[in-house]
Amino acid sequence: MQTYLTKSPEEASEFIKKGGLVAFPTETVYGLGASVFNEGAVRRIFEAKKRPADNPLIAHIGFQEQISLLASRVTSTALLLIEKFFPGPLTVVLPKTDNVPLVATAGLDTIGIRMPRHELALKFLRLCQVPVCAPSANLSGKPSPTNWEAVYEDLNGRIDCILQGEVTDIGLESTVVDCTSDEALVLRLGAISLEDLKAVLPNVKVYSPKANEPVRSPGLRHRHYAPEASVFLISSLDEAEEEKCTKAFIGLHEPKGDFLLKKVCASVEEYAHELYAFLRECDRLRVEKVFCEVVPETGIGAALMDRLRRASAK
Ligand code: TXA
Ligand code: MG
Repeated sequence: MQTYLTKSPEEASEFIKKGGLVAFPTETVYGLGASVFNEGAVRRIFEAKKRPADNPLIAHIGFQEQISLLASRVTSTALLLIEKFFPGPLTVVLPKTDNVPLVATAGLDTIGIRMPRHELALKFLRLCQVPVCAPSANLSGKPSPTNWEAVYEDLNGRIDCILQGEVTDIGLESTVVDCTSDEALVLRLGAISLEDLKAVLPNVKVYSPKANEPVRSPGLRHRHYAPEASVFLISSLDEAEEEKCTKAFIGLHEPKGDFLLKKVCASVEEYAHELYAFLRECDRLRVEKVFCEVVPETGIGAALMDRLRRASAK
């Protein structure tokens, strides 16, 4: 099976209605969608991505009214976040309704809900007329796709359709906040920063698993965002100079030494935007070691450092 490529959200939504899998752009990264209420289609998402069955999916909505199909209760913390950040790069985790099949939530009694602000994504989701659950549209373990070509590289022949859009704006996945109790907990940092969240919920905390405690966000257990090459975080610009292997650099300042591939970004936002495509390019060129400059952990810098640490973890 060849994957069908289209720029038409109407055509793409027809595949969802027939129980198919469609990759689509959002402002964060491309997602791989299926109707949340079609168990067979949801199961195929896990197969296509080779995703571990214990990693839950985010349900994407085109209308705020769809929240009541998915969540049995909307807590006061969730209401505040929804009011401020929907549509946008934020996922809220709430107790799920019985309508949502357990395959979609990997057996959890909660569900992540997000309304993208991306125009084409919203058009597509509205045409689908059902919430669409979608993980990032990469093979499990690879960097998330920020353009449709990266989706094609990983999933051509494994999914029904790719809705072709532009390169994504942000380039890192959404901020995930557990809102099931009165104490909101950040499970994954993203473009909605901790500072942004604190302006709405002053008591919000960032979750860090304690030893012996079951992990609250199963996705955090799995290897993520990693290229084939070894990734090293560096804070001084001469650290890679003496390395004799095929090497690459990405960061904010000009490094010392020769690199097969080098990207010096003008801002932390640009660094976040470029990172995943850069890591994929490193693999294509068979780079052995990738050196990534560390950034201050404020704003989207905290999310970027989180992804860099995961990419560098052995
Ligand atoms: O920006 C994004 O979030 C993209 C686009 C496509 O929307 N999606 C995305 O999905 O990054 P995925 O599946 O690659 O990451 C979802 C993360 C995982 O870490 C997962 O464990 C967590 O969200 N998650 C989803 N549902 C959850 C739940 N009910 N409870 C706790 N964590 C949940
Ligand atoms: Mg992912």
